Amino acid sequence: MARKFVITSGKGGVGKTTIVASLGLTLARLGYKTLLIDMDFGLNNLDVLMNIENKIVYDIIDVIEGKCSPKQALIQDLIENNLYIFPSTHGFCRVKFGSRELLAIISSLEKYFDFVLIDSPAGIDGGFRRAIGCGDEYIVVTTPHLSAIRDADKIITNLISEKKPYLIINRARGDLMLDSKMLNVKTIINSLNAEIIGVIPEDDNVSLQLLTGGAFDENTAIQKSLNMIAHNIISGENKIFDCTKKYRGFLGTIRKNLKSRL
Ligand SMILES: Nc1ncnc2c1ncn2[C@@H]1O[C@H](COP(=O)(O)OP(=O)(O)O)[C@@H](O)[C@H]1O
Ligand SMILES: [Mg+2]
Repeated sequence: MARKFVITSGKGGVGKTTIVASLGLTLARLGYKTLLIDMDFGLNNLDVLMNIENKIVYDIIDVIEGKCSPKQALIQDLIENNLYIFPSTHGFCRVKFGSRELLAIISSLEKYFDFVLIDSPAGIDGGFRRAIGCGDEYIVVTTPHLSAIRDADKIITNLISEKKPYLIINRARGDLMLDSKMLNVKTIINSLNAEIIGVIPEDDNVSLQLLTGGAFDENTAIQKSLNMIAHNIISGENKIFDCTKKYRGFLGTIRKNLKSRL
């Protein structure tokens, strides 16, 4: 049976889809069979990020209408053989199905996978409920901004599950945190009732992700932070990327001062 993670957030635009794509690639690189499912049916863009838009033959509606099997709809990733994407809808779709139909699809597929990562829509309405009904572990994503943290808190309160949700802090700026211009990691962890599983730095390489099908070079800060998250998921440890390290010490301070002048 696969471990099924729902990646969710209160606020939109905090990096859920980016994380689903790149964490999926990271787990697949480590040899784990991983399935990505886009359940953000309104603003689905996982297929665009993974460069598989033109490979979609059947989508979720075709599966629900019985035109094909769930397995037939799967698309293998262009880079990693261990990674598969279950396509959302081609265009705008009025969702007429719920967790029950989605669960049936997932349960027919999960035997082929070690991990299923579900990209959930933001917020706490129907789309969120539909998505959380399909997983058994939850990762709440926030950025270090007050509005995102407050909305993450609402999501965490709504996630009544036996397991405490995990937390990823995305777009962390170590330079600003050191200068107290951004809430630091410790303060965010202390204010949310979730188990920290990763900190991902703000990284310009993310804007190139569209060109690389979701992948990052191994030596980038963002990939190092993703490797740590994958390691934590697999081992149960919680090693957290230190986004301030680069800006500490003699050279670090110079780097930080130069960055503040940009
Ligand atoms: N760590 C990061 N560093 C820089 N930009 C990021 C990072 N994470 C996400 N982004 C950017 O933020 C925007 C929103 O990300 P996305 O994954 O679409 O959010 P969501 O799925 O939560 O709406 C995208 O333009 C993405 O490239
Ligand atoms: Mg998204």
